[in-house]
Amino acid sequence: MTDHETLANLLQEDRRFEPPAELAANANVTADAYEHAAKDRQAFWAEQAERLTWAERWNTVLDDSNPPFFKWFTGGKLNAAYNCVDRHVEAGRGDKVAIHWVGEPVDDTRDITYAQLKDEVSQAANALTSLGVATGDRVAIYMPMIPEAIVAMLACARIGAPHTVVFGGFSADALASRLDDCQAKVVITSDGGYRRGAPSALKPAVDEARTKTDVVEKVLVVRRTGQDLGPDGWDDDVDVWWDDVVANASTEHTPEAFDAEHPLYVMYTSGTTGKPKGILHTTGGYLVGTSYTHHAVFDLKPDEDVYWCTADIGWVTGHSYIVYGPLANGVTQVLYEGTPDSPERGRWWQIIEQYGVTVFYTAPTAIRSFMKQGREIPDQRDMSSVRILGSVGEPINPEAYIWYRNVIGGDRTPVVDTWWQTETGMIMISPLPGVTHGKPGSAMTPIPGVAADVVDDDGNPVPNGSGGYLVVTAPWPSMLRTLWGDDDRYVDTYWSRFKKQGYYFAGDGAKKDTDGDIWVLGRVDDVMNVSGHRLSTTEIESALVSHPKVAEAAVVGAKDEDTGQAVCAFVILRENAGDGGADIVQELRGHVRKEIGPIATPRQIMIVPELPKTRSGKIMRRLLRDVAEHREVGDVTTLADSSVMDLISQGMSSSSED
Ligand code: WTA
Repeated sequence: MTDHETLANLLQEDRRFEPPAELAANANVTADAYEHAAKDRQAFWAEQAERLTWAERWNTVLDDSNPPFFKWFTGGKLNAAYNCVDRHVEAGRGDKVAIHWVGEPVDDTRDITYAQLKDEVSQAANALTSLGVATGDRVAIYMPMIPEAIVAMLACARIGAPHTVVFGGFSADALASRLDDCQAKVVITSDGGYRRGAPSALKPAVDEARTKTDVVEKVLVVRRTGQDLGPDGWDDDVDVWWDDVVANASTEHTPEAFDAEHPLYVMYTSGTTGKPKGILHTTGGYLVGTSYTHHAVFDLKPDEDVYWCTADIGWVTGHSYIVYGPLANGVTQVLYEGTPDSPERGRWWQIIEQYGVTVFYTAPTAIRSFMKQGREIPDQRDMSSVRILGSVGEPINPEAYIWYRNVIGGDRTPVVDTWWQTETGMIMISPLPGVTHGKPGSAMTPIPGVAADVVDDDGNPVPNGSGGYLVVTAPWPSMLRTLWGDDDRYVDTYWSRFKKQGYYFAGDGAKKDTDGDIWVLGRVDDVMNVSGHRLSTTEIESALVSHPKVAEAAVVGAKDEDTGQAVCAFVILRENAGDGGADIVQELRGHVRKEIGPIATPRQIMIVPELPKTRSGKIMRRLLRDVAEHREVGDVTTLADSSVMDLISQGMSSSSED
């Protein structure tokens, strides 16, 4: 058997959910869009580009003369901030709320209209110019989830200074390496933000980063918490208060139109060792892709919907589906500063009730942690306003999908499982809520205008029922253009695996089920080989999580003398399961055997209190592999909470091996 044949999913999923009739009848995008787009993909994207306001029209939709360095809408000119803000004001919607901002401290809220946003973005653009930022200069943004973070991004876009937003949870070292890599001249930050009920400082990390790199000329500081910066916490030559330069700047600012291929931002990808990869996105194609997908996948009705994406602004999801897509579409959205459980575990659901959120977009890791707490908490709130739920970041296992749909969506709402990456810029594979029937665990099919497939080692499409590598087979408008300063690595990382075919290789394994729908199985390095059978960690995790006592599970392949690799599972039990009982490990092994088959039975199951995760919520399997293979645990610096590995090592006493 070849690899791709054995990658086939062994789980059976028969549940189906039809789109609600009313939603289907009024859907933004209907079934004919697929065929229409496939007939002439470039013409389709040109139609979508009409959603934006261009200062100059493009001459060429796609310039593919130098692959894989593709260009979109060449000759076209536009301003991203104008498209996200000014044009809504000019169209008479200045009084519409753009952002319902919710601070973590209760009752610390602000509603910002499009007219106010336009003024603030203009002031910030003027302030950046006065600090010496010119078109093409890079500006780093290191901020909590406060409105000024969005204002800062749009102000950069307005003057054509590419931003690089660094997640506020990253350390000074991580910040310094990013500042250095993109040579950021200015950093925009704040004194701190609120996390779990207390002010949490940010500015000191910028100060520390500045001791490691000398590229930064000015630091613009928003006063959020008012906390003491300490005796050495202010450098008069470098530091400037936002209130001093932005609040006093003029609200008049004429946006300049930039080339469609002008760099919009650099986003560094996390989780890998070595030098971070700076993903470069440009202006026109990116805005076309994010605004179209936001309109299509969330069926967004700007006059009626209240939209909420819980991602942090420091990740690509925050860029594409808080800032650029939604604002280009003129939405009203919620922006929340804090953690889901502060001051109480039901905070998110309280916010949904209070603002009447209709479209909600979050990550499976959050959903599973709410499952663990039990449905009593969300059940206390009226969430009948919700009409569409979205998921992103990792495969959503069928049990989490069902819980999300039932408990948060009142058993009425479609769940759109959206597959995409920092590199793709926009959602690529997803159901359309008014068209596609939901199938728990499957991202279904490429959206209209996107061409993707699952191929074998030689780049040939696999038949239905088989697995292989997920590839994108044609350029798309919001694709990354290169890695910042490293064209060779760009070509090598994404375009060399299927060079002959010219496919973009996403790094994910996937399978097509018997209907031809796509199941993303996770990164290919998360695929195990047990006795010559390829098994997906995700699949076994899904099986474990379908057991009523299990809240969360992570599976890794550990070296094994007999089978090559063996399945090792780390499991967090639900609160109401207590310690699971004396036979819990045998019970779970039996459960996996039953759900998938003997080949998937974990050799080892460890009951643990927490799992090691990066700050973006991705499980760090590398560390778990270290534990499973009895090695000393490696570098833990990118963990959100580095004490987790100690807890897991202690938890090994309750593991079983036979
Ligand atoms: C994974 C986040 C399965 C995948 C937008 C991808 C998913 C990586 C899904 C990109 C999904 C994201 N189903 N897997 N719906 N969405 N992934 O760059 O492995 O942080 O390659 O972008 O997340 O992560 P990134």
